[in-house]
Amino acid sequence: MQKMTANETDFFGFGDSSIKGAIFDLDGVLVDTAKYHYLAWKRLAGELGFDFTEADNERLKGVSRARSLEILLEVGGVSLAENEKEKAASRKNDWYVEYLLAMDDSALLSGAADYLARLRKGGIRVALGSASKNAPLILERLNIAGFFDAVIDGNAVSKAKPDPEVFLKGAEALGLSPELCVVFEDALAGVEAAKRGGMKVIGVGKPELLPGADRYVSSLRDLC
Ligand code: G6P
Ligand code: MG
Repeated sequence: MQKMTANETDFFGFGDSSIKGAIFDLDGVLVDTAKYHYLAWKRLAGELGFDFTEADNERLKGVSRARSLEILLEVGGVSLAENEKEKAASRKNDWYVEYLLAMDDSALLSGAADYLARLRKGGIRVALGSASKNAPLILERLNIAGFFDAVIDGNAVSKAKPDPEVFLKGAEALGLSPELCVVFEDALAGVEAAKRGGMKVIGVGKPELLPGADRYVSSLRDLC
């Protein structure tokens, strides 16, 4: 992947200094939590009597907890009553939180903290736009809460990505119109949400797995 030149004012590699705000997805963009989600979902699948593979887990990236459970049950061909679904999602979350509590700075993805620092120093406004209800705990565990002017997470939205709500709220909280913001995403639903919200999108990952973004980086290190 092409290394972008980190010129002083071109923070995003678009050669355009009109962008004033950056909105970051969390899981898979700033932190490597997908493995913990996977282990916790796999444990739930095991309890329900079926196997859940890493390939199946790809379908859960960027997807809300409730929708993730629906996909997991579909994979296992299992149906649960509504109250059982709530209990299952909550058990999965308890296991996931155990992993989060044991996590340290090594879970930060390459370049994440350096790039957030670079943006702050350059006067770019920074927001989080994540589906996760655990976002405050993750930011606190990794000591990165102080980088954000605004945090919009799964507790603040009613519509999941690909609906643009989370990113529109992020732009609004930054006091910027959507076209002045760029979104960083590693999931298809997130890329679509950002485009629907009228924002530029930088895909973090392989272009062939994440079509639709305006440009791509393999990690935020490429922009440091
Ligand atoms: C992110 C992750 C998803 C996860 C969702 C909700 O979008 O990519 O895999 O399901 O957040 O996370 P939560 O921490 O609230 O269960
Ligand atoms: Mg993500």
